[in-house]
Amino acid sequence: MFQFILALLLALALLAWGASAVVHTTAREWFERDVSSRARLVLTGAAQSLADAWNGDPKDLQKRLMDLTRDERVMGAAACDAEFKPRASTPGFPDDFNCWAVGTRVRAADSSGNSADRLQEWSTVANLPTGRVHLSVMPIRNQAQELGFAILLHDLSFIERREAQALTFLNIAFAVLALMALGVPLFAARWARYDWSLELRRLLRGGGTQKSPEFQPILSDVRELVGRMASEREDAPGQWTAERLKQNLNRYLHGERIIILANREPYIHKHTADGGIEVQHPASGLVTALEPVMRACSGVWVAHGSGDADRETVDSHDHVSVPPGEESYHIRRVWLSEEEQQGYYYGFSNEGLWPLCHVAHTRPLFRAEDWRQYLAVNQKFADAVSSEVDSKDPIILVQDYHFALAPAMIRKRLPSATVIAFWHIPWPNAEIMGICPWRNELLEGLLGSSIVGFHTQLHCNNFMDSVDRYLETRIDREHNAVVMRGHRTLIRPYPIALEWPVHWVETAPSPEECRAQVWRDLGLKPGALLGVGVDRLDYTKGIEERLLAVELLLERYPEFRGRFSFAQLAAPSRTKIARYRQLSETVELLAARINQRFGSEGYRPIILFRSHHEPPEVFRFFRAADLCYVSALHDGMNLVAKEFVAARTDLKGVLVLSEFTGAARELTEALIVNPYNLEASSDALAAALTMPLEEQRDRMRSMRPLLAQFNVYRWAGKMLMDASRLRSQERVAGRLAERSNVTPAI
Ligand code: G6P
Repeated sequence: MFQFILALLLALALLAWGASAVVHTTAREWFERDVSSRARLVLTGAAQSLADAWNGDPKDLQKRLMDLTRDERVMGAAACDAEFKPRASTPGFPDDFNCWAVGTRVRAADSSGNSADRLQEWSTVANLPTGRVHLSVMPIRNQAQELGFAILLHDLSFIERREAQALTFLNIAFAVLALMALGVPLFAARWARYDWSLELRRLLRGGGTQKSPEFQPILSDVRELVGRMASEREDAPGQWTAERLKQNLNRYLHGERIIILANREPYIHKHTADGGIEVQHPASGLVTALEPVMRACSGVWVAHGSGDADRETVDSHDHVSVPPGEESYHIRRVWLSEEEQQGYYYGFSNEGLWPLCHVAHTRPLFRAEDWRQYLAVNQKFADAVSSEVDSKDPIILVQDYHFALAPAMIRKRLPSATVIAFWHIPWPNAEIMGICPWRNELLEGLLGSSIVGFHTQLHCNNFMDSVDRYLETRIDREHNAVVMRGHRTLIRPYPIALEWPVHWVETAPSPEECRAQVWRDLGLKPGALLGVGVDRLDYTKGIEERLLAVELLLERYPEFRGRFSFAQLAAPSRTKIARYRQLSETVELLAARINQRFGSEGYRPIILFRSHHEPPEVFRFFRAADLCYVSALHDGMNLVAKEFVAARTDLKGVLVLSEFTGAARELTEALIVNPYNLEASSDALAAALTMPLEEQRDRMRSMRPLLAQFNVYRWAGKMLMDASRLRSQERVAGRLAERSNVTPAI
């Protein structure tokens, strides 16, 4: 028996070694050949279109080249004339392959091959410091006339990554096989008094006349896991789009519908004064980010039906299809009584958790009655979610501090569900979390999730510290995970982002037109300068500090008096809470005081709008202004900052940004300020207003590609890919446990 197992293991090791060699040599060849023929196909297809644009506007030629680089692995493209001088190239095309260098190589290649003076197709593989690349050259001709040649550059670094992953998983697969080769016969021999060697031989022979059902499920799971990870789609270069997110969902999550649970609904139906019904887009960063994801993925968004015409617009299942006119997903509205809203939303969520999590010096209020409502309403929403699922292992995205308890409640009803909880606001340190009388329940509730996400690593650390301090769990710091009563939860940072391109920008008038409209509406003089702030009227947004900084600017820099106005679009929010009403009054008084102090006939330094503005209006202001000041005192991310940068397709305007926002970690080319430091903030405003156009453009040029690349489709894609990996791992572990009758190791 021993010799047989040894021989078997040896055979497996030999097989693994052989397979690794094959992967190493043939995979590379296959991939390179594939890239080469793809490049040739692309260039042949585009040759005529490039020839047509060759002698026209270089921008048009560049646009056509950029169309060729849509594929995520294409690094760049260039067009060179017959004298090897550049005609156009895509941004970032590496200098290593300038027209002269490539042209002379192509001619040299020709001379050893065909004709010496006519350009020929040519391709090669080269090593750059950044990795291996594939270079493909195609002559461009207009009938007989040789116009020059086009270059297409493919990134080949993915091959090494795939190779490495494929090898790792090959090894894992062989290790699993080896373990099973050892375990199954021993188990069978010991417990079933079975002739294990005969059985093993039968299995290895392919089971004689029958297939080996014992191996089939595990092998197929391992194969799927290997395939999915090896293909490495989620980390592949290239931009994430709605389409790519959808493809990933179909491919790795088998087209599962996504269920979002969030308190705020993306479309609110309201009665208008003339008796009609209008749709409102709420002022909510959560909605801004998640709505495009939902449009891409489809599914159900479970939310509180908060509009006064919401009940009139749902069907008998409390569903309404949205977006209006597009209908790609639906909202399931949950109705709340006055008491429920008071206790769960205004009370526990917004008078308790909101100030607890934000360092903005408003004392949190924790009332037992609010907690009871919070608990009951979380259960009500968890039940609503459970009634919407159509499989036993759905994917459920639970959003924000309104639903800390829902993940565990959902897990209880749907043990195989993949629950991803995302906390959109900061997570305080363990000491502050300790203030909440129900901190343990909140933590346990969240740990019902498969993954808990935050915007930053700091908030992940704070969460893990809180768990460590208050609960009996195992903290796995190496993998950023928490294991509680046998259930493992991953804790991960996923900085939230915007859709790209932002559809409100796509449909907005040009920046010049926006500026002309806003100037007209606000009665500004031609040489005036405009700053803008866009927020909910919330004490965490630092609106008072912002106005005080403007006041100090006018005091310390008299040249801006009579010239600079600051428009604050402040959407009323949570007005049933005294602290919010008080803030609204303070802001109004402050604006009046500054206007009185520095205003004059036809000039208002502060233009305050305390009303809701729909996105087209907000984007009109963003595109018109000279600066945007985001002065939040503490904010998980702050998408207003990102929206301002996204709005500036003209690369003008300056973002002045509080260092206490998550966005400040990404938008480092903004003027970063401490909003409590009024003097420094007023200096930053002055610097923004006098910044040369070239510098404004440089800063925008550096921030905008970041927003394009790290967009919300990538945000969602990363989370869903992590979830998919988790599901595969759990499936493999579960099947292994089933086979060997042991609990999976966690
Ligand atoms: C923050 C929260 C969101 C919330 C938004 C608007 O961004 O993280 O969950 O939707 O504020 O607040 P509201 O109370 O009006 O939903």
